[in-house]
Amino acid sequence: MHPMISTLNTPALKKNFVAFKLIVFTVFMLASCGDSENKLLSYRIKSPSGHLKVSFLLAPGGTPGYAVHYKDKIVVDSSSLGFTLKDAEVIKHGFRMASLKEDTLNESWEQPWGEQRKMNNRCTELTIELVEKEKPKRTMFLIFRAYDDAAAFRYYFPEQENVKEMIILDENTNFQIRNNPTAWWAPGDWDIYEHLYTQSKLNQVNAIAKRSHPSLGQTYIPENSVNTPLTMRFDDGLHVALHEAALIDYADMTLKVDTASGLLKSSLVGSDRLGYKVKRALPFKTPWRVILVNETTAGLADSRTILNLNEPNKLGDVSYVKPMKYAGIWWEMHLGKSSWDKASGKHGATTKHAKELIDFAAENNLKGVLVEGWNTGWERWIGFDDREGVFDFVTPYDDYNLDEVVTYAKSKGVDIIMHHETSSAPRTYEKQMDAAFQLMKKHGITAVKTGYVGKIIPKGEYHHGQWMVNHYQKVIELAAKYGIAVNAHEPIKDTGLRRTYPNFITREGNRGQEFNAWSSDGGNPPNHIPTVAFTRMLAGPFDFTPGVFNISLKPYKKENQVNTTLAQQLGLYVVLYSPLQMACDLPEYYRGNPAFQFIRDVGVDWEQSLTLDGRVGEYVVSAREERGTGNWFVGAANNEEARDVNLDFGFLPEGKTFQAIIYSDAPDSDYQSNPTAYKITKQEIRKGEKLTLRMARGGGFAISLKQ
Ligand code: NOJ
Ligand code: CA
Repeated sequence: MHPMISTLNTPALKKNFVAFKLIVFTVFMLASCGDSENKLLSYRIKSPSGHLKVSFLLAPGGTPGYAVHYKDKIVVDSSSLGFTLKDAEVIKHGFRMASLKEDTLNESWEQPWGEQRKMNNRCTELTIELVEKEKPKRTMFLIFRAYDDAAAFRYYFPEQENVKEMIILDENTNFQIRNNPTAWWAPGDWDIYEHLYTQSKLNQVNAIAKRSHPSLGQTYIPENSVNTPLTMRFDDGLHVALHEAALIDYADMTLKVDTASGLLKSSLVGSDRLGYKVKRALPFKTPWRVILVNETTAGLADSRTILNLNEPNKLGDVSYVKPMKYAGIWWEMHLGKSSWDKASGKHGATTKHAKELIDFAAENNLKGVLVEGWNTGWERWIGFDDREGVFDFVTPYDDYNLDEVVTYAKSKGVDIIMHHETSSAPRTYEKQMDAAFQLMKKHGITAVKTGYVGKIIPKGEYHHGQWMVNHYQKVIELAAKYGIAVNAHEPIKDTGLRRTYPNFITREGNRGQEFNAWSSDGGNPPNHIPTVAFTRMLAGPFDFTPGVFNISLKPYKKENQVNTTLAQQLGLYVVLYSPLQMACDLPEYYRGNPAFQFIRDVGVDWEQSLTLDGRVGEYVVSAREERGTGNWFVGAANNEEARDVNLDFGFLPEGKTFQAIIYSDAPDSDYQSNPTAYKITKQEIRKGEKLTLRMARGGGFAISLKQ
């Protein structure tokens, strides 16, 4: 399949090789000495529209690299590729190109559930085979893809004579960014993604300053690196985001920032216990390194390329994966009204209380009920070092009758969502997982929320290292065997794996609503949501748990309140995509409130999704068409500056009239002084009509459009 070429002077190929003037100078700097060939070789592919270009480069000395251009702009200037290995020569130079193949890919596929049903995977692909000229004469493939909205590449090491296994001390993938864009970044924490994003110029990134976080059970930021997705905006308006796709049996990639040069360098999450970052037997492929490129903020959010880069569904029938809204015994624990542990004397997860929640869910079109604190072990949870063998995933507390609760739920048409807090003792969990999933299967429970609070046991492992990536994967694969969908908290970041494993239904992996209840840094500021919409959300679904109506949190929390308006809480059901979407507040705050109708109505599974408008960190407006009904829902969230949004209903289908219910901020709404004021208006809306809505400081809106 890969045409062998011995020299790049082959006439057919020659015309495609161009020495880019722009990139030559950096490439020469990358070139290692001692090679007689003094020529830069480059081969360029274009995306289907022709606008996005990816160049493979082989610098003098045989150093592989690449560059990305969009129209006439440099997105990533020439950057080198390679690895530092244990007990083996660095992979960096001395390569010759052994073969090259250009291909186009154009496939359609469907998501079993998702933000968009019909998917189109269309790009140009370039496969380069490189062989070292000298011993150990290793072979490495580079696979590049040019999408209209992204460049992507991965390394592939085939089976070969001289290498059987690679122990990677670091991957040296560079991303040379020019012109110092504005960046929205979260620190490259090896142990948790629950940091706020900071907006700064790229040359001002200071992840080290984020080391001391008052409200995190685990955090480790070893260097000035950032987490992905990292979103950047250049002064000319071009948006670029760096992330990865298909993270399997490998370590999470953070990006080390050289503030002086704008060079971002892959820095994999490691393991102090093992002393390396990744160990793989050959053959293997790395995750894709992805550079999303878009002229608009909205376009960036609507890219489906991360999903397209993942392998097709490996699980077959996943009809047990059910998108749904859910209530739960949850927020009350974060407020301190009740507790997970029974010894506290205010145990939340009792049979009686679970039944109350089931009634509430059944009355309000919420199909699930999450019960946290049902199993023994919570007395030795946070703050204990020795957590092995503490949590028991099959034994309920004696005031919780699992059988009775599940039977009652079934009689009401409600699904119980199981909860497994591992307290970051994954070995304990792995020992019990099979029995735990069997118990679920016996009761017909098809979804579990997992949790990984605290430092990982064994010591020296981190949440985002290869060892834990493999643990999360084991959970997903075993769960699939039992027909169980997983919602992981304190997870590994999303890299689009739900295409391959559609039972990985949603996850946390950012600062969720919970911080508003107890963090000592003032909770999530209003700009959090419009930042998350264009950073974290590029990765995939987020179990943020929206829907707080008792925004002041009184009488439970004197020091905290949610920095939102009530209309914004409704908007979040549309803005923050998750197929499991919680109505998190206590039933007493929903009952009798007309705004709750939106939560009853809003969809969770979508035919299509569109970001209508937005600016990173300022505001976001999204629209989604519900699968099966043709109903549309619109949601918006604003930062701390009040603003008008002009809505154009051009996205609606022709010739249909929609009954719109508009839940918006009242004229006097304000996230600080008057967060619960809102208004509801009703009107008919057709395609192409326009509407201007005012969003308060920290506000938003939500619209249901039914046919
Ligand atoms: C942290 C999770 O994010 C939260 O949702 C959960 O309630 C607690 N851990 C307990 O498992
Ligand atoms: Ca969490």
